[in-house]
Amino acid sequence: MPAPLDRLIDSLSRTGMTRFFRRMFDDYPDLLMKDQQVDEVGPDRAIKLGGRWVTNFGSDSFLGLDQDARVKAAVERGVRAWGTHNGSSRAFSSVEPNVRAERKIARWMGTEAALIYPSVTLANTGALPGLVTRQDVVVADQYAHNSIDEGLKLAKARGVRTAKFAHNDPAALDETLRALQPYRYAVVAVDGVYSMSGQLPPLAEFRSIARDRSACLYVDDAHATGVLGACGRGTVLEALDGYDNVLSVGSLSKGFSCLGGFVAGKQAAIDVLKLRSNSLIFGGPVPPPYLEAVCEVVDILSSAEYPVLRAKLDANVRRLSEGAARIGLAVMGGLVPIVSVLVGPEEATLKAGKFLYERGYYVQSVVFPAVPHGAGVLRMQVNANHAPAQIDALLDALAALKQSAALPEPSALAALMAA
Ligand SMILES: Cc1ncc(COP(=O)(O)O)c(C=O)c1O
Repeated sequence: MPAPLDRLIDSLSRTGMTRFFRRMFDDYPDLLMKDQQVDEVGPDRAIKLGGRWVTNFGSDSFLGLDQDARVKAAVERGVRAWGTHNGSSRAFSSVEPNVRAERKIARWMGTEAALIYPSVTLANTGALPGLVTRQDVVVADQYAHNSIDEGLKLAKARGVRTAKFAHNDPAALDETLRALQPYRYAVVAVDGVYSMSGQLPPLAEFRSIARDRSACLYVDDAHATGVLGACGRGTVLEALDGYDNVLSVGSLSKGFSCLGGFVAGKQAAIDVLKLRSNSLIFGGPVPPPYLEAVCEVVDILSSAEYPVLRAKLDANVRRLSEGAARIGLAVMGGLVPIVSVLVGPEEATLKAGKFLYERGYYVQSVVFPAVPHGAGVLRMQVNANHAPAQIDALLDALAALKQSAALPEPSALAALMAA
């Protein structure tokens, strides 16, 4: 008789989602570019992927700081000073670079305080349940990042009522909060930039609804940190002109190219989160070398060099986004470093990614369940250190793709949004 673990795994391999993925592996063995090995990283955003050198348009290192000599030197400095890890939960102690990094992040963001978690996922799964009690509720945009969803599930497991509202829809938020009453306070969690489509939420409208309904805003700005807003502080300050009644969550892994996530806001809120975030109390911190790197990146973002980096990034984003629209592709979202193009059916989306890969460009084919079924997208990430000629060459490959495959027209986007 097989052991219970073997029988458990066997039964799990027959559940709906595992079967869905397995069928995809079986149906498209040549198309699925998941679990690929990156063998080498070269200059100019080149990677050797699956044995082929390609230009990487699938990296969240939007500012190109992953290869910056100062950031690499900061990691090395941190290793020399602190070793690879300090090995203690922050419930006991914090290394000096951790405290320094939080002070620097708060000063740069323009908030009273900031709290660093080992990732944005751990920020969302620690802070969201930590912010509420059974008298309160948490609601989230239906397309908010999976880690927000997980935060809601943890809150729910502790007896907190939770709900989702229709994507980017202020009326739906208002109705959802109204229907949940009576409650004491509500937390409204949204993404600052939707990572699959590049769309932005109507933050000002959400804030005014939140105020009227005894709620606060919790904005996961992971994809905006370092790359949107003045000094790269993200979407919140730009949209709301301040942090009143808002917690802003940022990533230290994407634009920063280091490791971790943070929640920034009022000192009192950060003090409470430090005591109520289980992911922080019962887990380890970001290792000191990466905290040294975070400090280095905040210095770069706060320096005169930042506008130059941003201008390069913004010009590259515009070049790709406007170029793709000129070709007649259905470009989603706004002018953010994630340029997503609607393809539609899963197989066509995988084929489109493979087509580009074979021509020397790595972009991500994103299919269900990361996006709705039948609404697959080609997701292209633009970096400040992509050369304009590399973007033009990708656009040529996209034009060839458009010639060879029946891709949706831009008008298909309106129908998708209305669905
Ligand atoms: C909006 C959002 N939140 C959270 C995360 C997860 O971040 P981390 O890798 O730091 O856990 C992502 C990752 O892509 C994201 O897009």
